[in-house]
Amino acid sequence: RMLRWSWRLGYLSAIAGIVYMGYGVYQDRHPEPQVEPDPSKKTLVILGTGWGSVSLLKQLDTENYNVIVISPRNYFLFTPLLPSCTTGTIEHRSIMEPVRTILRQKKASVKFYEAEASSIDPERKVVRIFDNSEIRGDITETEVPYDMLVVGVGAENATFGIPGVREHSCFLKEIGDAQKIRKRIMDCVETAAFKDQSPEEINRLLHMVVVGGGPTGVEFAGELQDFFEEDIKKLVPDISDRFRVTLIEALPNVLPMFSKQLIEYTESTFKEEKINIHTKTMVKKVTDKAVEAEMTHPDGKKETVVFPYGLLVWATGNAVRPVVKDLMGRIPAQKDSRRGLAVNEYLVVQGTRDIWAVGDCAVAGYAPTAQVASQEGSFLARLFNNMAKTEALEEKISHLSSTLNLQPGNSAAVSREIEGYERQLRRVKNAKPFNYSHQGSLAYIGSDKAVADVTWFNGNVAAAGSLTYIFWRSAYISMCFSTRNRLLVINDWLKSKVFGRDLSRE
Ligand code: FAD
Ligand code: NAI
Repeated sequence: RMLRWSWRLGYLSAIAGIVYMGYGVYQDRHPEPQVEPDPSKKTLVILGTGWGSVSLLKQLDTENYNVIVISPRNYFLFTPLLPSCTTGTIEHRSIMEPVRTILRQKKASVKFYEAEASSIDPERKVVRIFDNSEIRGDITETEVPYDMLVVGVGAENATFGIPGVREHSCFLKEIGDAQKIRKRIMDCVETAAFKDQSPEEINRLLHMVVVGGGPTGVEFAGELQDFFEEDIKKLVPDISDRFRVTLIEALPNVLPMFSKQLIEYTESTFKEEKINIHTKTMVKKVTDKAVEAEMTHPDGKKETVVFPYGLLVWATGNAVRPVVKDLMGRIPAQKDSRRGLAVNEYLVVQGTRDIWAVGDCAVAGYAPTAQVASQEGSFLARLFNNMAKTEALEEKISHLSSTLNLQPGNSAAVSREIEGYERQLRRVKNAKPFNYSHQGSLAYIGSDKAVADVTWFNGNVAAAGSLTYIFWRSAYISMCFSTRNRLLVINDWLKSKVFGRDLSRE
């Protein structure tokens, strides 16, 4: 009987889940009419549509401000699954969410300009923007004034000025990068399979080199080896014994942010997967067909090694964007900051009063991750919602106080009302500074295995292997931006498992 009841309960919760999801989808498709922004309110300009800015937008009460969003990208990108797009395990549109859909869900309408901010003038309080898309109108450049500004423009790829990197390698930050890599893998395979190709050339073309042993490089190398083992090897068997993946890292080990035990697990899994790892190897130069690196041997001796390659993926971390560098140059208090905009504990850009920064372009003492950026965005939303409430309460109190002497008969009631507002005001004004809560680090390492350093009841749990991979999948599914994204990602995973990845080069 107990069993029957638990089955019934199971069915009921499944039905409730589907109904809830269906209602959410219906609401998204039939949104309520939006309130027009009130011109007397402050103009809040938000730069970027990444993790920081979108998490701010999601929780911001937009009716309190005139909100303007500016970004060259009219979508949000779920970066944790970007490495899976390079091999077609996941299709790129499954991890993109149009910003127009996100903004349409807000109570008060928000303006969006697809443009890049080229400079910010903190004296005049204006942002200079330009349209760098393929289709341009009469106006391609203009200025947007702000009362409050949030900079969430992320970071660009670090190359450390190493010659040849920009010209010859692929990066892995944007959706276009993943598409370029996917195309190039298949181009290398088809060119290697070309009639009468020499053995040396086949070896070069099928050598996939990844520079940077951080999580981006490791996850990409794992995805690439999966693609080869599960699909390329079966469909192009004649050249399959030449396919090699090499990961080059300047430090003594890969994944420095993970615990020692997980680093060792990753390195031994890569060995089993036949991914070559060269640690203590610093790339110094890149040409169109080879990478030149300096390798340090255990006895301290240095040697120059050359790695011929077909595909080169450069994943050596972040660098400051020009618009951020320019802003830092205009603020004297930022003169000692090197890695981005130094912010205080409320994420206010130091040396300013009305500019805030979130995510990879802000230096708040945390790693440049999606986890940090999204918590910073949520913090700012709460802060701005509170600021609006504070102003409204202060206005009410001042209005009631001014009427107090005019209504002597009613003064006790008015005083009580004022006291109530003052209590509320004390509560909202008591905003705590930003406090990052680390949920842990997760990374996919190929062959259906993942590593995880997770925070659990104030302690740390290190886990690795296939079960961790299931956890990795469930965690990323639950973190996807929307129900649509979740369904598309699940569908892509199933599709590539059942039918294999699509080898078409388009
Ligand atoms: P972004 O998300 O990069 O967004 C920046 C936004 O600003 C974009 O919309 C961009 O178009 C816009 N922009 C750029 N220039 C301008 C300009 N001049 N004017 C206006 N707008 C501009 N972190 C994790 O925690 N977990 C993970 O699993 C994880 N996986 C990752 C996988 C990959 C492949 C990569 C590359 C990163 C990964 N990260 C992960 C890191 C994470 O993606 C970043 O830390 C996060 O995106 C930072 O958020 P952000 O809002 O600062 O910047
Ligand atoms: P990273 O900064 O974490 O790693 C880059 C690596 O490249 C470093 O280990 C560095 O030593 C190496 N390197 C630099 N120059 C080199 C050279 N010339 N030759 C050889 N090696 C060189 O960069 P990554 O992986 O792009 O990550 C950026 C941020 O995004 C990090 O904060 C990371 O935590 C986050 N991220 C998190 C993921 C996850 O949690 N699963 C996945 C991807 C990124």
